[in-house]
Amino acid sequence: MDKKIICLGIESSCDETSAAVVDSERNILSHVIYSQIPEHQKYGGVVPELAARAHILVLDDVIRRALADAGAGISDLDVIAATAGPGLIGGVLVGWMGAVGIAQSTGKPLVAVNHLEGHALVPRLKNGGTDAAVEFPYLLLLASGGHTQILLVNGVGKYEMIGQTLDDSAGEAFDKVAKMLGLGYPGGPVVEKRAAGGDAARFGFPRPLCDKPGCDFSFSGIKTAARTLLEKEKATNDQRPMTNDFVNDFCASFQAAVVDCILNRVGNAMRDPRVIAAAPRMIVVAGGVAKNAAIRGGIERLAAEHGMEYGAPPLNLCTDNGAMIAWAGIENYLAGRVVAGPVAPRPRWPLTEL
Ligand code: KG4
Ligand code: ZN
Repeated sequence: MDKKIICLGIESSCDETSAAVVDSERNILSHVIYSQIPEHQKYGGVVPELAARAHILVLDDVIRRALADAGAGISDLDVIAATAGPGLIGGVLVGWMGAVGIAQSTGKPLVAVNHLEGHALVPRLKNGGTDAAVEFPYLLLLASGGHTQILLVNGVGKYEMIGQTLDDSAGEAFDKVAKMLGLGYPGGPVVEKRAAGGDAARFGFPRPLCDKPGCDFSFSGIKTAARTLLEKEKATNDQRPMTNDFVNDFCASFQAAVVDCILNRVGNAMRDPRVIAAAPRMIVVAGGVAKNAAIRGGIERLAAEHGMEYGAPPLNLCTDNGAMIAWAGIENYLAGRVVAGPVAPRPRWPLTEL
């Protein structure tokens, strides 16, 4: 058997500063996540400049704790990996330059990880998706704050886009609707919680593109419908605060529309000739929105209907985290994809351009 490899992974592309130590036998040896959410909450969303400054303040400590929890020193590491994009460029620069510093001072190999590839590969970590390793090729629904895509994952660095959003991401729709309702940031978890107590049939949200063939998404119409419905409610309700029932029903109706759209598109993807030709055994969900139980449950049912297996990372590996970056670091290192010269971090970096 090949020698076991140990990788330090650093994530700083949005509002989590995270570092983890992961080994090539798919184990997470340590995992530290410092969430900046409380610092951004009062602004109703992530403020890029504040995020970058907060990453600077905590990065050293987060890395030190990850190493200490793993019982490892820097000399024990075989590889250093960090997110080099896509994301908020100020934050990406902080984590990336930290990783470059460690790699250059120790002479260790460095991997520039695409953040989306971190989400895409994390189901292959032990207990990341199923008990068995998730094998290539697999079909992936990647739904996060910035992206909503269906991909065929053919291997490390080998992604085929089957469908993607034409406008907003699903996560953005959750966040915007929560903001409209005054539910704070991030929107996904609170909308899901309120939806659990609501009547999904009360409000008629549209299901954009669902009557059309294809695998692309569109969520902006759902967002506009939310704004229109809320304006109507405010006008007819003489500007009185929204009742709990109203908010719960609104969240339930909105979430049902998003879930229907996602299931419709993933169902089409399972019948897509490119997917049928690749014959993936498994559909896997990833990204922050994949924490949503209605989406997870829906995809699991769809998988059963299509004779596919279903995999989903545990909830703490769906939202941004360092373990997924460390794991993508290991997979890339083993595939020989290490940094050979200067790398400019990228705010935009599609998975199809690795
Ligand atoms: O993957 P992630 O942590 O960050 C990005 O790479 O964008 O995803 C964050 C997104 C946010 O839009 C958040 O509202 C959404 O994931 N999210 C959820 C849930 N938990 C987080 N959306 C729906 N239901 C949830 N339970
Ligand atoms: Zn992410």
